[in-house]
Amino acid sequence: MNVFDVVAMGAERLEEADVYFGHGTDNASDEALFLSLHALGYSYDMSEDLLSAELSADQVLKVSQWIDKRISTRKPAAYLTGYTWFCGYKFLTDENTLVPRSPFAELVLNFFEPWCVPDNIKHVLEVGTGGGCIAIAIAKQFNNALVDASDISELALVVAKNNADYHKVANQVEFYCADLFPDTGKKYDVIVSNPPYVPRDVYDELPAEYHAEPKQALLAGQDGLDCVTRILDHAYEFLSDKGMLFLEVGEIWRELEVAYPSVPFTWIEFARGGEGVFVLSKEQLISLRSPEKG
Ligand SMILES: C[S@@+](CC[C@H](N)C(=O)[O-])C[C@H]1O[C@@H](n2cnc3c(N)ncnc32)[C@H](O)[C@@H]1O
Repeated sequence: MNVFDVVAMGAERLEEADVYFGHGTDNASDEALFLSLHALGYSYDMSEDLLSAELSADQVLKVSQWIDKRISTRKPAAYLTGYTWFCGYKFLTDENTLVPRSPFAELVLNFFEPWCVPDNIKHVLEVGTGGGCIAIAIAKQFNNALVDASDISELALVVAKNNADYHKVANQVEFYCADLFPDTGKKYDVIVSNPPYVPRDVYDELPAEYHAEPKQALLAGQDGLDCVTRILDHAYEFLSDKGMLFLEVGEIWRELEVAYPSVPFTWIEFARGGEGVFVLSKEQLISLRSPEKG
């Protein structure tokens, strides 16, 4: 058996076991590849020769054991291996941090264009940073920008700080334990946030993989709007004059449109998939200070 064979075998077993995909990969083959490479200690850019080389019985057994672990625990693969990939970078993950998967990756790689002028982005705030993946990816993409990032979870921030050290951006990214907006006294050119936005009834029905993630990273009250409305109401206070808010609200974008009928949300279209991210300027945020709730 070679790498192709163990990946095919692993994918078949994952499918048969009906595990849920969506935490770093969205299909059985990619999930089996991730776990197989980890089990074998190989990287994604391994040589063709290594890919087709015959594996030892011990190597095949190791892959099989990682597939077993994924099936028996129903935990996202990133928690089993302790890392995942986001924006092309490796991030340490543990069960105190959401597994990175936000469509924000595409926005960061596109330098927030066409909504921002990249050279004008000097100060960025991420609200609800978890393991720091978005804040750190922004720091890597914008060498001259300073990034502040908040989270309410001290344990998530431990992981975020380790990731900042790992990516050598600790001098560019400052982490704050805060309820949404940290008290830095600064104004930001860009505020980004992928806050919790899952309504209670949806949360209760989610596959086991989601229940392995921190509840406070997903659940946001009965209607999922708890953090979102607070961010919408207060973000303008922390934005520079030409500042922009980018907020991910996932599937509850429809509820948000009903709750704020007069807000001109611009919903961003993603080439790589994902939905429910809008952008609003400071000016637009100021004009919605007294929302007509539906
Ligand atoms: C959906 S996760 C996003 C994590 C990371 N930014 C990502 O995209 O992978 C939401 C994060 O917001 C944090 N959070 C929840 N409520 C918060 C609050 N009131 N203030 C600050 N952070 C909060 C959670 O601890 C969690 O890390």
